[in-house]
Amino acid sequence: MKSFYITTAIDYANGKPHLGHAYEKVLTDVVARFRRLMGDDVYFLTGLDEHGQKVQQSAQARGIEPIELCDEAAEDFKGLCANLNVSNDDYIRTTEDRHKDVVRSILQKLYDQGDIYKADYHGYYSRRAEQFLQEKDKDENGEWPEIFGDVEEITESNYFFKLSQHQDWLVEHLKTNETFIFPRFRTKQVLEFLKEPINDLCISRPKERLEWGIPLPFDEDYVTYVWFDALVNYVSAIGYGTDGFEDRWPVDFHVIGKDILVPPHAVYWPIMLKAAGIALPKSLLVHGWWLKSGAKMSKSTGTVIDPLDLVDLYGSDAFRYFVMREMNVGQDSEFSEERYLVRYNSDLANDLGNLLSRVLTMLNRGLGGVIPSPEVEEELETELWKLWNKTREETLELYSGFQFHTGLEKAFHFIGSINRYAEQRAPWKLAKSEVEADKKLLNTTLFVMAEALRLAVGLVEPVMPETKEKVYTLLGYESDAEWESRLVRTEDLAGNIVGGKTILFPKPQTDS
Ligand code: MSP
Repeated sequence: MKSFYITTAIDYANGKPHLGHAYEKVLTDVVARFRRLMGDDVYFLTGLDEHGQKVQQSAQARGIEPIELCDEAAEDFKGLCANLNVSNDDYIRTTEDRHKDVVRSILQKLYDQGDIYKADYHGYYSRRAEQFLQEKDKDENGEWPEIFGDVEEITESNYFFKLSQHQDWLVEHLKTNETFIFPRFRTKQVLEFLKEPINDLCISRPKERLEWGIPLPFDEDYVTYVWFDALVNYVSAIGYGTDGFEDRWPVDFHVIGKDILVPPHAVYWPIMLKAAGIALPKSLLVHGWWLKSGAKMSKSTGTVIDPLDLVDLYGSDAFRYFVMREMNVGQDSEFSEERYLVRYNSDLANDLGNLLSRVLTMLNRGLGGVIPSPEVEEELETELWKLWNKTREETLELYSGFQFHTGLEKAFHFIGSINRYAEQRAPWKLAKSEVEADKKLLNTTLFVMAEALRLAVGLVEPVMPETKEKVYTLLGYESDAEWESRLVRTEDLAGNIVGGKTILFPKPQTDS
C-alpha cells in the first residue's frame, strides 16, 4: 500500500520558532494523526532550510560558522516539535548529505537535458529576499517595497532553469485538477500569476557572493539558489533515486503558508518535478497567517509570540486545541492571549475538565470507584446517544475536509451536552435517595457520563492525543481496536475501576 505522505514547509534556520511555525506543525500533525487513525500508512516529514545568504550573514555577525548556527536552530526547531507532541517520522536538514546528493543529481540531470543554461544577467537584486527583481516589483510610487530591503543593481553570469516553456501545461493542470490546491480559491491567485509570461529562474549564486549553499555539480564556482535547494527536501528525504521512493511519492499534501504558494510551490516546484520526470504532488494544503493586531508575526515587527511559553504554561494539548479551534484552515486568524485564556477556561477547564472531575468524584464517593452498569434507558439517555451518533459522523466528515475548527465545535458541543445531561439527572441528589428506582438511575447516569466522556475524548484524539490518553487511563480503558470502532458506544466500561480525582487543565503556575 502506498503511504499517505504529508510534509510541512521546512523552516528557515535563520530565526527562532514562532507561532506561525508551531501552527503549521500542529495542523500537519493533526491531519497525520487523523489519517493514521483512519487506517492509512502515514509518513510525515518536517525539517529545516539551512542554506542561503541570511544564514551566512547571521553566522558572520556572530562570529561563528554557518553550520554552528544551523545546529542551534535544529535543536530549537526539533524541540518545538517535541514540545507540541508532533508525530513526524523524519526530520530533514538541507545540510545533510542525503539531501545535497539529490539536489546535485537533479541539477545534473536538468543540465544534461539542456533545461539549464548560462547567461549574463543585468538587473536589480534584493539581498533580503535573495531574489532578482523587475520593474514590475516596484510599488505604485516607483519605489522598491520595504520587504526587499536595499536593492542593488548588478551584472553577473548565472545559470537559469527554463521555466517559460512549461507555462501552458501548468495552467491546464491547475484548471483541470480541482483538488490540487486547498482551499480552491487560492488557485485563482496562481492563475493570475501565470497570466503574464514567466521568466526563466536563476538557480545559481556566484560563490564570491554566497558560499553557504550546495555547489552546482557542473560549475563549482556557483552554489544553488536556496529555493531550488529547499524544495528538493520533499523528495530527498524519502530517498529519491532509490527503490522505496515510489512507496511514498507522489506526496499527498504539502502543507504550506499562503506566502510560499506563488511562485515557489505552485510554479517552480511542479515545473522542477515535471522537467526531472518526477510525478507532481497530489495537493497543496495552504493555510493562512496568524496575525497580531492585523500584522503578520515576524521578527522585524517584533510581534512574535513565543509558542513555547504558551505550551509550557498550559500544556501542548491546550495549545493544539486553541490553534485548531480558532483557525479556519486557509483563512487568517487573529491571535490574542485573552482569547486563549477564554478558550482554556471555558472549553477546557470548565466543560471538559469539570466533566472528568465530576465523573471521578461521584464514582469514588459513592461507588468505590467502580463504573456501574447502565440499568435503564429513558429519553434523556436516548437523546444523548442520538446526539453522539450525529456528532461523530459530522465531526469525522469535517475533519476529512480540513474543517477542524467546526469539527471541534461539534465535539465540544457534545461535551457541553454531557454536562447538561448530568445537571438534569443530578446524580448528587440521586445518591442521597433510598428509592430503588433512583439507585438504578444513579448507576445509569454515572455510566452514561463516563461512556460519553470516553467517546468524546476519542473523537478529539487527533488534536488532543495526551488528553485522550489520560482520560482513557483514568477510566481504566484500554483497547487495541481501530479508531472508528472505539468511537462506537459499548458497555465495556462497566466494572472498570477509575483513577482518583484529577485536574486535567489546571490554572497555570506563574512566578508572580
Ligand atoms: N524556508 C521556507 C520554506 C521552504 S519549503 C521548501 C520558509 N520558511 S519560514 O520559516 O519562513 O516559514 C515556514 C512556514 O511557516 C511557512 O509555510 C510559512 O507560511 C509559515 N509561517 C510563517 N509565519 C507565519 C504566520 N505568522 N502564520 C502562519 N504561518 C506562517 O518560508
